[in-house]
Amino acid sequence: MVGGREISRSAALVAAALLSGVRAELDSRLWYDQPAELWTDALPIGNGRLGAMIYGKPDSETLQINEETVWSGGPTDRLNQNASQAVTQVRELLANEQVEEAEKLADLGLVSTPQAQRYYQTLGNIEIYFDGGLDEYNNGSYERWLDLDNATAGVHFSINDTQVERELFASAPDDVIVHRLTAQGGGKLSFQMRVNRPQDNINTASDKSFNRGGNSVFMTGAAGSSNPIVFAAGLTVQTDGNLKAWGEFLVVDNATEAVAMFAATTTYREEDPVAAVESTLNSARQHSYEDLRQRHIDDYRAIYDTCSLKLGKEDNSTTDILPTNERINATQNGANDLDLITLEFNYGRYLLISSSRPGTLPANLQGIWNEDFESAWGSKFTININTEMNYWPAELTNLPSLHQALFDHIEKVRVNGEVVARDMYNASGWVVHHNTDIHGDAAPQDRYPPASYWTLTSAWLCTHILEHYFYSGNQTFLQEKLPTLTGAIQFYLDTLQPYQMNGTTYLVTNPSTSPENTYYTASNASGSMTVGPTCDFQILRELFTGYQHAVASLPSHPAINATFLAAMNTTMSRFPPPKLSTRYPGVLQEWLHDYPEAEPGHRHISHLYALYPGTQIPPPDAPGHNPTLWTAARKTLDYRLENGGAGTGWSRAWTINWAARLLDGAALADNVFEFFNRSAYPNLFDAHPPFQIDGNFGFAAGVAEGLLQSHFVRADGAREVWLLPALPEGWSEGRVDGLVARGGFVVGFEWSVGRVGRVSVDSRLGGRVVVKFDVGGVGGGRVDAGEGSDAFGEVEDGMMSLETEEGGMYEFDVMWD
Ligand SMILES: *[C@@H]1O[C@H](CO)[C@@H](O)[C@H](O)[C@H]1NC(C)=O
Ligand SMILES: *[C@@H]1O[C@H](CO)[C@@H](O)[C@H](O)[C@H]1NC(C)=O
Ligand SMILES: *[C@@H]1O[C@H](CO)[C@@H](O)[C@H](O)[C@H]1NC(C)=O
Ligand SMILES: *[C@@H]1O[C@H](CO)[C@@H](O)[C@H](O)[C@H]1NC(C)=O
Ligand SMILES: *[C@@H]1O[C@H](CO)[C@@H](O)[C@H](O)[C@H]1NC(C)=O
Ligand SMILES: *[C@@H]1O[C@H](CO)[C@@H](O)[C@H](O)[C@H]1NC(C)=O
Ligand SMILES: *[C@@H]1O[C@H](CO)[C@@H](O)[C@H](O)[C@H]1NC(C)=O
Ligand SMILES: *[C@@H]1O[C@H](CO)[C@@H](O)[C@H](O)[C@H]1NC(C)=O
Ligand SMILES: *[C@@H]1O[C@H](CO)[C@@H](O)[C@H](O)[C@H]1NC(C)=O
Ligand SMILES: *[C@@H]1O[C@H](CO)[C@@H](O)[C@H](O)[C@H]1NC(C)=O
Ligand SMILES: *[C@@H]1O[C@H](CO)[C@@H](O)[C@H](O)[C@H]1NC(C)=O
Ligand SMILES: *[C@@H]1O[C@H](CO)[C@@H](O)[C@H](O)[C@H]1NC(C)=O
Repeated sequence: MVGGREISRSAALVAAALLSGVRAELDSRLWYDQPAELWTDALPIGNGRLGAMIYGKPDSETLQINEETVWSGGPTDRLNQNASQAVTQVRELLANEQVEEAEKLADLGLVSTPQAQRYYQTLGNIEIYFDGGLDEYNNGSYERWLDLDNATAGVHFSINDTQVERELFASAPDDVIVHRLTAQGGGKLSFQMRVNRPQDNINTASDKSFNRGGNSVFMTGAAGSSNPIVFAAGLTVQTDGNLKAWGEFLVVDNATEAVAMFAATTTYREEDPVAAVESTLNSARQHSYEDLRQRHIDDYRAIYDTCSLKLGKEDNSTTDILPTNERINATQNGANDLDLITLEFNYGRYLLISSSRPGTLPANLQGIWNEDFESAWGSKFTININTEMNYWPAELTNLPSLHQALFDHIEKVRVNGEVVARDMYNASGWVVHHNTDIHGDAAPQDRYPPASYWTLTSAWLCTHILEHYFYSGNQTFLQEKLPTLTGAIQFYLDTLQPYQMNGTTYLVTNPSTSPENTYYTASNASGSMTVGPTCDFQILRELFTGYQHAVASLPSHPAINATFLAAMNTTMSRFPPPKLSTRYPGVLQEWLHDYPEAEPGHRHISHLYALYPGTQIPPPDAPGHNPTLWTAARKTLDYRLENGGAGTGWSRAWTINWAARLLDGAALADNVFEFFNRSAYPNLFDAHPPFQIDGNFGFAAGVAEGLLQSHFVRADGAREVWLLPALPEGWSEGRVDGLVARGGFVVGFEWSVGRVGRVSVDSRLGGRVVVKFDVGGVGGGRVDAGEGSDAFGEVEDGMMSLETEEGGMYEFDVMWD
C-alpha cells in the first residue's frame, strides 16, 4: 500500500498504478482517487435507454438515474392559430428589411402557443446508506473507475482488513442496471437502499413508493401536467446476507455479496409501467451476476470493438498514469498525453453506444444523463447543429446501427412536420424548426428570433439519411426513406420566395436566420431574422445534390421522377451565389447582404456548413476544388477564432472537424488541446458549459476526420479515400482500425514518422477505391502489392487503386525512400 508522506504524490500514484495494472489501460480507463463531489465528476453508464451517474461515495452512495422517456408530458398541438397569416406578413417585412417589425410580429404570430416543447427530466436517485463508518477507508486505497473496453464501472477501497468492491453496468440485453457490492475479509456489508426523486429540500416528485415480495421496492409518479408521462422504477436485491423490505427501503445486513438490479419505464412505451418493471426485474433475477455481466459485455463489445485507435508508440509519459482529472490538468500544463486523446475518442464512442441504440430515442443534448428537473435548454433535441453533431462519429467510426435511433425519430418529426408545413406555411412536404422533443414536435420552440424560426433543420436531418446510404449502400433503407426525403425537399420547392437583387430574381428562404447570430441593419438596429442567409443554400445544395446522387443508383421508383429532379436543378440555379465580404476582406459572407456582425466571435459558424459537415469546399487536388472558396473558408474560420470563437465545447469540436477538412494537422492539434484546456470536465464530459454531450461526439468525429476522409468520387465513379489528411506533428506514430469510408470500405492502417505503412481495406460492397496515402505530397512512397494481384494498380504518385469485390479483403504496404 502506498501512503508514505516522504514519496511525492505523483511518484506514489505511479507506483500504485503500476501495481494495479492501470498502466495497460491508459486509453480505455477513467479513474479517480477520490469520490465524485460534483455531477460532472461522476461516471456515466447507460444501455441506450437507462442511464446512471456514479458518485462512488464510500458510506452513502448516490446513483443519479435516468430513463430516456421521462419527459414533461404527452404530445401537444402548439401551432399558433395565426401562424399562416403571420408568415405572409413577416415575409413582406423581411423582404423590405423591416427587421425589427418582422421580429416583433414573429414573436406574436410565429411563436408557438405555448412557446415551449416538452423537456427531459431526471428520474431520480438510487440512494444507498451504509453502516459502519466506511468513510474511514484506508488512506490511498480508494479508486473509482470506468472501463470503456467492457462498459463496466466500479469503486473499491479497503477499510481495516476488509476489501470493499462495487461493480456496475447498464445491460442492454437484460434492460437493467446491475450493481454488485462485495466485502472480503473480516467485515460484512450492511446497507439500506431506495429509489427516490427529491425535487428540492421539501418535496419528492413521485406519487407512491412501496415494497413487494420482500426483495423489491418500487416508485411511481408522473411527469407533466394535464397529460403526463407516468413512470415506474424498481429495485431488487439478491444477497447472501439478511434481506428485508421496510416501506420503500431494501435493507441488507451482514452480507459478503449483494447484487442490486434496477429497471424503469414509462407510459411512453408501456401501458402498465409497474408490471413491465416487475417483469423485467424477474427475468433478470433468473441470471447469475456473472451471466448478466457476460451477456452485457458480449453485447457491448460487438459494437465497441469495431474500431480502435492507438496514437504514439511509447507508453512512457508519467502523466498517463495519473488519475484522469490530473491527466487533464497535466495536459493543460503542457504534458503530451496522447493516450488522453485516445481515451476521449474512445469515450465518445462509448457514450454513443450507451445513449443511442436501435429502438431507443436519439441521444439528446445530454445523451441520456441529466440530473435536473429543469435542465439547460430542456435537454431536448436541438437540431440546428447539436443533435446532428451527436451522430457525426456514427458512420465514420463504425457505429452505423446507433444511427437508427435518429432515423426513427425523424419519422416522428415528419408526421408533425407535415401538419406544420400545411397549416403554417401552406406547403406540402414536412418541416421542423430548431428544436424537437420526445414526440417529434415540429412547431417553433422559444420566443427567440436568432433561433426559433429557422426551417433548414429538416434538410439537415435528411442529410444523415443520405450519409447512412452513402456508407452502407443499403437500397432497401433508401427506398424506405424516399417519402421522408422527397417530403423534406418538396417543402423548400414550395416555400422559397423570389427576391430581387441587382436585377436578378433569386429564390431565397424567408423567414430565416443564420443560427443563432445577429447583425446590424442599415439603421444600426440589431437583427437576426433575415432572408436567404448563406448557410441555407449550403444545406439545401447538400440535400438536393445528395438526393440526386443517391437515387441515381436506385431502380425506378414512383417517388423519383424527372420533373422532381429537374425542379431541384432549376431551383438550385436560382440560389444566390456564395459571396466574399468586402467589409471583412476575404471572409465568406454570412448573410445575403454584407451586414456588420454583432458578435464576430460567435459560437455558430453556420456558413462553414459547406466545409463540414457539408462537402462543398473540396481541398486542393480533390475533384471540384475551388481555390477562392477554399481560401475564404480558411479566413472565415481564422477570423472567428481571432475574435474569441469556439468558446463552447461543441463549437470547439466543430472547429476540430473544420481543421481536419482544411488538411491542417497543426490547427487540429491546437483545437484538441483547447478542448482539454477549456471544455472538458473531470469526467471528460464536454462543457458548453454546462454539460452538453455534442462536443464529446464532435471530438471523436474530428479525431477520426484527421485520419481518414472519403468525400469525393472521381469522374469514373471510383471513391477517393485519403489517409492521414490532417495529421498533427505530435501524432507521428499510430495505428487505426475500423474507420469506414463512404462506399463501405473498412480501412485500417499504421503509420510511422507521419507516413502510412501497412494498409488494409475490407470492401463491404465492392467497387473501385483509390487510396491516397501521400496527401501531403512529400513523394517517395511506393506500394508493394505483393504477388501480382489483379485487384491492385497504382494510378499515380501517392495513390493506390483497388478494384474490390463485395466482401473482399485487401492489404498492401507503402514503402518510403
Ligand atoms: C387570429 O386568428 C383568429 C382566428 O383563429 C382570428 O379571430 C383573429 O382575428 C386572428 N388575429 C389577427 C391579428 O388577425
Ligand atoms: C476499523 O478499525 C478501527 C480501529 O480498530 C475501528 O475503530 C473501526 O470501527 C474499524 N472500522 C470498521 C468499519 O470496521
Ligand atoms: C492520508 O493521506 C493524506 C495525504 O495524502 C494525509 O494528509 C492524511 O493525514 C492521511 N491520513 C491518514 C489517516 O493517514
Ligand atoms: C474488461 O476488458 C479488459 C481489457 O480488454 C479485460 O482485461 C478485463 O478482464 C475485462 N473485464 C471484465 C470484467 O471482463
Ligand atoms: C449481523 O451480525 C451480527 C454479528 O453476528 C449480529 O449481532 C446481528 O444480529 C446481525 N444482524 C442481522 C440483521 O442479521
Ligand atoms: C518516451 O520515449 C521516447 C522514445 O522512446 C523518448 O524520446 C521520450 O523522452 C520518452 N518520454 C518520457 C516522458 O520518458
Ligand atoms: C493543476 O496543475 C497546476 C499547475 O501544475 C497545479 O498548481 C494545480 O494544483 C493542479 N490542480 C489539480 C486539481 O490537480
Ligand atoms: C396555398 O397555396 C396554394 C398553391 O399551392 C394557393 O393556391 C393558395 O392560395 C394558398 N393559400 C394561401 C392562404 O396562401
Ligand atoms: C437495410 O435496410 C433495411 C431497412 O432499413 C434493414 O431492414 C436491413 O437490415 C438493412 N440491411 C443491412 C445489411 O443492414
Ligand atoms: C449587388 O451589387 C452590389 C454593388 O455592386 C454588390 O456589392 C453585391 O455583391 C451585388 N449582389 C449580388 C447578389 O450580386
Ligand atoms: C414526382 O415526384 C414527386 C416527389 O416524390 C411527387 O411529389 C410527384 O407527384 C411526382 N410526379 C409524378 C408525375 O410522378
Ligand atoms: C441536374 O443537374 C445535374 C448536374 O448539373 C445533372 O447531372 C442532371 O442531369 C440534372 N438533372 C435533371 C433532371 O435535369
